[in-house]
Amino acid sequence: MFDVKITDATLPDGRTGIDIGVKSGQIVAVEHKLGGDAGEIIDAGGLLVSPPFVDCHFHMDATLSVGQPRFNESGRLLDGIRIWGELKPLLTHEAVIDRALRYCDLAVTQGLLAIRTHVDICDERLLGVEALLEVKKRVAPYIDLQLVAFPQDGYYRYPGAVDLLKRALDLGVDVVGGIPHFERTMADGTASVRALCEIAAERGLMIDLHCDETDDPLSRHIETLAFESLRLGLGGRSTGSHLTSMHSMDNYYVSKLLPLIAEAGVAAIANPLINIGIQGRHDTYPKRRGMTRVPELLAHGVTVAFGHDCVMDPWYSLGQGDMLEVASMGLHVAQMTSRTAMRQCFAAVTTEPAKILNLKGYGLDVGCKADMVLLQAVDTIEAIRLKATRLAVIKGGKVIARTPNRTSALHLAGRPARVDPASYAPKLD
Ligand code: FE2
Repeated sequence: MFDVKITDATLPDGRTGIDIGVKSGQIVAVEHKLGGDAGEIIDAGGLLVSPPFVDCHFHMDATLSVGQPRFNESGRLLDGIRIWGELKPLLTHEAVIDRALRYCDLAVTQGLLAIRTHVDICDERLLGVEALLEVKKRVAPYIDLQLVAFPQDGYYRYPGAVDLLKRALDLGVDVVGGIPHFERTMADGTASVRALCEIAAERGLMIDLHCDETDDPLSRHIETLAFESLRLGLGGRSTGSHLTSMHSMDNYYVSKLLPLIAEAGVAAIANPLINIGIQGRHDTYPKRRGMTRVPELLAHGVTVAFGHDCVMDPWYSLGQGDMLEVASMGLHVAQMTSRTAMRQCFAAVTTEPAKILNLKGYGLDVGCKADMVLLQAVDTIEAIRLKATRLAVIKGGKVIARTPNRTSALHLAGRPARVDPASYAPKLD
């Protein structure tokens, strides 16, 4: 007897006609034609059932604040940082919590059930830190929220950031953050990477740096992050976010850098919507895309994931917590158009970020948590093509969000009365 049985599912690995049995919040069986009764049956009807989406790079303290106190008309990174700096003194504990909770509501409807958010610690009050620690507690029943202590204005550049970062970690922030390319000099950036890696090693924490978010081909803090991760044994819990300078680096240098990143066990996070919007702003034509070298990192065995980074904040006015939109942009910017590469883009917003966050019990195997999403698409490529509707979002075996399937009525003589976008999938043998 199962609590819930999901029947006739297609799984991300391509298996079809699969039933998933759930008991006490865990997946206890995954097989064809699963016998036994269930308290509730959810018929997937041959559609895709995936583990939840995971956003490994976000800024929840800033989300939904777009226009406060003004819009970023230039769209540039540094203007975004300036506008955020104007908003910071005006923030209240309640307002940050309210925006974050509203975003989490949206995330759940999108099947996004795990988020790593950076939280700005360059504020003597640590207001964002305390607010997001509260949010983490409140959403724990439905979202795994991981916090990164992020010195937005520079670990060395912002007076007091060294102490504030330590205080944030003491309060319970999970991950060490940094922003070496925003320090005053390359040397300060390098020193910050070394110091932050040492903090992560001493405390046994993960580290995730905003690293080389610039078009400057000589911004090479990823090299230091990889070297220090190797020296301090941080492999598997060290991540470089953005790495956009790699787009513009000399190819010979990159041929040496890629194996170092792989050897060090440093993961990479690209943020396609933000990278394509913010990078290349100093270019006339041709304009660089700015996103890091995703296919090349993957070819070297590096764990690569895509993050959303921003939704309706000083850096990005759009977005809706849809990780399939993120995957789609990543696919296009990196030209990952082969069947294999498109599937890798789906993995970059599900299984790969789950590895970076070190999520326990993630996946669709027996013994995993019964967290999953039923999508109105027949496979992972179709899910990206359609930004597929999340028909049901399941947490611990319980449906916590439903969205009606998207079909349109068609009023054309001699043509079908209804159009289901999922029915356009290519017929493959
Ligand atoms: Fe970021």
